[in-house]
This record gives sequence, C-alpha cells and structure tokens, in this order.
Amino acid sequence: MLALRFAAVFAAWCPVAAAQTIPINEDEASVPPYTLPDPLIFRSGRPVTNASSWSWRRTELLEQFGDHVYGRTPSGLPRRAATVVSIDRQALGGLATRKIVRVPLTRKDSGPYIDLLVYLPNGARRQVPVFLGYNFDGNHTVTTDPKVPLPRGWVANRPKSGVTDHRATEAARGSAAESWPITRILERGYGLATLYYGDVEPDYDGGWHVGLRGAVARGGTNHVFAPNEWGAIGAWAWGLSRALDYLVTDPGVDGRRVAVIGHSRLGKTALWAGAQDERFALVIANESGEGGAALARRWFGETVWRINTSFPHWFCGRFKDYNNNVSELPVDQHELVALNAPRPVYVASAEEDRWADPRGEFLSLKHADPVYALFGLPGVGVADMPGINEPVGGTLRYHVRSGKHDLTAYDWEQYLDFCDRHLKFPTQ
Ligand code: GCU
Repeated sequence: MLALRFAAVFAAWCPVAAAQTIPINEDEASVPPYTLPDPLIFRSGRPVTNASSWSWRRTELLEQFGDHVYGRTPSGLPRRAATVVSIDRQALGGLATRKIVRVPLTRKDSGPYIDLLVYLPNGARRQVPVFLGYNFDGNHTVTTDPKVPLPRGWVANRPKSGVTDHRATEAARGSAAESWPITRILERGYGLATLYYGDVEPDYDGGWHVGLRGAVARGGTNHVFAPNEWGAIGAWAWGLSRALDYLVTDPGVDGRRVAVIGHSRLGKTALWAGAQDERFALVIANESGEGGAALARRWFGETVWRINTSFPHWFCGRFKDYNNNVSELPVDQHELVALNAPRPVYVASAEEDRWADPRGEFLSLKHADPVYALFGLPGVGVADMPGINEPVGGTLRYHVRSGKHDLTAYDWEQYLDFCDRHLKFPTQ
C-alpha cells in the first residue's frame, strides 16, 4: 500500500518519464511515507530475540547486501604480505615515524597494489590505535611532506587538485591537508594510515579494466559481471581489509583498535568494509549519503536511480533493478549500520549537504538502535535529529555540522573524542 503511494507521488511529479527517471526531492514536506525492513526479523518471518540469533541474521543481511547492493566479495582472493618500502623516524619535525608500505592485491607484483602511508606518534609507551581511511586524490595530497610519492595511475581532475589530464601532479601536494589534520591526530595519541582509492581501482565506469576487479576476474578484462558480483565500492572495501592485514602486523599499531573512516563515496566504502570485516574496531562514515548511511527508501536528495545512473560502477548490476522501485529492495541502509553491531559507529552530516540527506543519515542510526539494544548498548538514543553542531548518541553517534559537504577539523574533533571513549583503554 505504502509502496503504491510512493510510486504514485513519483508518477505525479513526472508523468511521462516516471519509469526512467526519479526526480530529486529536497523538500521535507514532500517526503512520502515508507516502510523499512525490520533488521530483527529473519526472511523466514522469525524474530531475532537475542545477540546470538542476531549473528545468524547478520549473515543473512550480509548476503542480501552482497546480492542486491554492493555485490558479493569474491572468496579465495590472494592475501600477500606487505613490504615496508621506506621508514623515516623523524617525520613531521620528529613528531612521527612515517612509513610507506606496499600492499599487493593480486599475485602479480606489477599490481594493482596499495601504497599505504602510515604516521605513528613517536614516544608512545604502547601500541597506538589508528585511523585507517582512503583519500580521494593520492597520498601526496594529505600532507606537504615532500617525501610522500605521487600515485602512479589515474587521478580525477577535481577543481582543487590542479590536475588536468588524470596524472597526479606536484601542484596537488598538500591540497587535502585540511581534511587530514595529521599533527592533531598524532598529538591525541593516534596513528593515521591513509591510502589512495585509485590504487585499488580508478573511479570511472570501466575503471575495473585497469583495477583490482579486472585483475582477478575469471574472464580478465573481457569478464561479464553477474548481477551480484562486486562493484567498485566492494573492491575498495576489500582494499581496506588488506591494509588492515598489514596494520595488525605493525609492531607500533594496536590491531584491535583500528577505526575505519571515510568521507562521501569513501564513507559508503567504510561502512561496507566495517560490515564485512569485524576486525575494524569502529566505523566512521562522514557524509556518506545515498548508498552509505542515508536511507534508500527516503525520497530526499540523491536517489537509487540517480546514483546508479551517475556512478553505474559503484554497486552491483542487480542494484539497478531497484532504480524505480526502491521499496522492493530487501534491505535498507539502517541494516548496513546494524551489521557493525556491537561496534561503535559514528555517522555525520553537514547542514548544507542536502544531497546526502542528513535526516536520512540520522534515521539510519536511529533504526539501528534496536540491534544495539540486543547487546545492551546505548544506540543514538534520541527521538529526533539534534540541532546543528550538537553531537548525540552513545555507541551510535551522530552530528550534523554547519557548512557544506566536506571532512573538516570539527568532524575530526568529534571522531577523536568518540575514539577516546571507545578505543582507548582506561589505563592509557
Ligand atoms: C557525488 C555522489 C555521492 C557521493 C559524492 C562523493 O555527489 O552523488 O553519492 O557521496 O559524489 O563521493 O563525493
């Protein structure tokens, strides 16, 4: 019934092309009602009653997200040891040890591989917790440190990057430093490990030919993807787990306290990585929007149709079946958040980032609360969205910051405080 009303509203907006396009709505009063799937009901209709039956439901949901949204991550991919390429024990004026670590992703040394950039605070008395997160334009953009090499492959020509032809340039060095307050992170007692997502797979439709998915596909670059084979977000998520494989072996890192963080499309990736790999101790999704924390069924900002049209390579083929009937999706994004239970999750929005649907991001957390309650943990715990710059919640935490779509110092301060509460041991 609700589904019918939803479809009727779309048809009224766009009578001719209703089957092809879904208009963008950014008016709260126009959001039609919707019914979310219940994370605590098995497909069979049986209820989940405790944390131990949740683990079965978790498996079921993971399979559904694989089959219908992100594609399944192939099993049996090679896992090879990483190599430390360089170490500088006096980086950033002596504050940190900087390592560059090559993480192979396939059997071939020629690639694809990740060059992981790791900063660990000098003088720590014990292994440190670490933030692990992808950067958008190359490791050299997060710092002005001249020793950090440029990525070798494709980079996007984003306005700020000074790139015009998809090759990384020196001009972009440090251009993303404001989003990566490395000194602050180190001073707060954390390490930072960052990696360039294009090392795993360039971000354009067809990028898989020169990325991880093409390198491991049975059909090579002629491969025809089945409807539930992984998309680029799946490949990037897998790359995060391989970076974690290295971090757990680094003598300076406490591998049980690695937080995975991502902004925007890389926030979607962080959530999917955390859902699949329970070694991530904590997950942070900054303005991850559609296909990330924002509820798919809520018609506000970016839609399933729009994201599948603009970025057809991000998700699996079957996700496109829901372009015009999102209510048929067997899952919604609150269940992606819930897949991380009982681990802490921070979801953040920005007031002006209406495209990412701040309220839809908040509601995902709120509707994941019942799963955290199974573990006796406080979820986000409030009835409605908090005001601007007023973080709320417990094990599930949320803020909507003033300003636009970005990863800012304000966001990092909240994440550092959250990690202090959840990742630092009382003795530290
Ligand atoms: C686009 C896209 C979003 C995505 C964002 C980003 O705006 O529509 O879904 O989150 O890019 O990754 O920057």
